[in-house]
Amino acid sequence: MSHQAALIPSKGQPLVVETVKTVPPGPGEVLISVSAIALNPIDYYMRDAGFFVASYPAIVGSDIAGTVEAVGSDIPSSSPFKKGARVLAFGNTFYKQGQPDANNYGAFQQKVVVPIESVAVIPDSLGFVDAATLPMSVGTALTGWMNIGLPVSTRVDSKQAVLVWGAGSSIGAGAIQTAKAMGFTVYGTASPKNFENLKALGANKLFDYKDPEVVSNVIEAAKADAVSLKHVYRAAGDIGGSDLPPVQEILKASGGGAIASAVILPEYTPQVEGVETKFVQGSADPEERKKFLARAFHDFLAPRLAKGEYIPAPKAKVVGSGLESLNKGLDELRGGVSNVKIVIEL
Ligand SMILES: NC(=O)c1ccc[n+]([C@@H]2O[C@H](COP(=O)([O-])OP(=O)(O)OC[C@H]3O[C@@H](n4cnc5c(N)ncnc54)[C@H](OP(=O)(O)O)[C@@H]3O)[C@@H](O)[C@H]2O)c1
Repeated sequence: MSHQAALIPSKGQPLVVETVKTVPPGPGEVLISVSAIALNPIDYYMRDAGFFVASYPAIVGSDIAGTVEAVGSDIPSSSPFKKGARVLAFGNTFYKQGQPDANNYGAFQQKVVVPIESVAVIPDSLGFVDAATLPMSVGTALTGWMNIGLPVSTRVDSKQAVLVWGAGSSIGAGAIQTAKAMGFTVYGTASPKNFENLKALGANKLFDYKDPEVVSNVIEAAKADAVSLKHVYRAAGDIGGSDLPPVQEILKASGGGAIASAVILPEYTPQVEGVETKFVQGSADPEERKKFLARAFHDFLAPRLAKGEYIPAPKAKVVGSGLESLNKGLDELRGGVSNVKIVIEL
């Protein structure tokens, strides 16, 4: 059996579509027939700069939705991951880099092998295009909150607040909704044109990050609402780190706290007493990672999707159909998007 895949032929080269061999899923894995692929910044870093790519040709990409085509021999018939199940999945391309079978796990192909802990069954009411927008966003949001010690599976009272900086981003949508699920009052910063969309996800108050008064506006709001603001998720921001001092100042004013930064930190991250700044990253231990992914996709996301309690956001923008559209989609994402998630349909 064979299928089409979009490969990076060599460092810095555009993707090319070729026929590759379809491999059956191993133990604990499923083979997914892909209907939609959502794009993330890391995808163009991998294509254009070779970040994390261990060898070429490489099949990369993380976010997919589609239908289970085959299951590993050890997966019981009682499992929700059966042939024909509609699912979303987080392609394990990073975790598999350097392994000989890495290319079976990249999202940019018609058939992808995925370990079941990175798969969630989706309800019939959720289309593949919307479902594909979720895996990276939800997984990264939960990882970041856990990195700075938030409970994730238990609830806090609403007198505790978090701030999501760059809430208009895909990771921001995840950070808002996961914080809301924990019970926090959620503040966010974004461009004003995105405020309504972000309120619909559960953000309580929004601030314009370009407003020179943004720091005092957030501090005043926390005082007026009598909330304790100790945790910030830096979902999007300036890669040079110019937004770190304002965020640190906000936490300093509330007596200290911690920042989870999805955005890569500058070489010299400013240090502020009582404020911890951590780059968001999952565990390096494969067993720990497996446990985390199952919590994120099986325990957190799947039941909320089934009950309609989690909204796919930002809105999907389909920029093409077929693997040939991936280069165009990645170029558009690299050029900058505002509160949309770029998706390719297959
Ligand atoms: N550490 C990890 O594991 C991990 C995983 C995934 C992603 N990431 C990183 O997380 C970041 C966000 O990824 P994404 O896919 O969510 O991006 P995205 O959706 O493409 O982000 C676009 C949004 O970013 C906001 N934004 C841009 N510049 C900003 C700034 N200076 N301050 C505040 N907001 C700003 C914009 O908000 P407005 O339109 O409202 O202005 C825009 O809507 C990227 O740096 C990505 O590389 C890290």
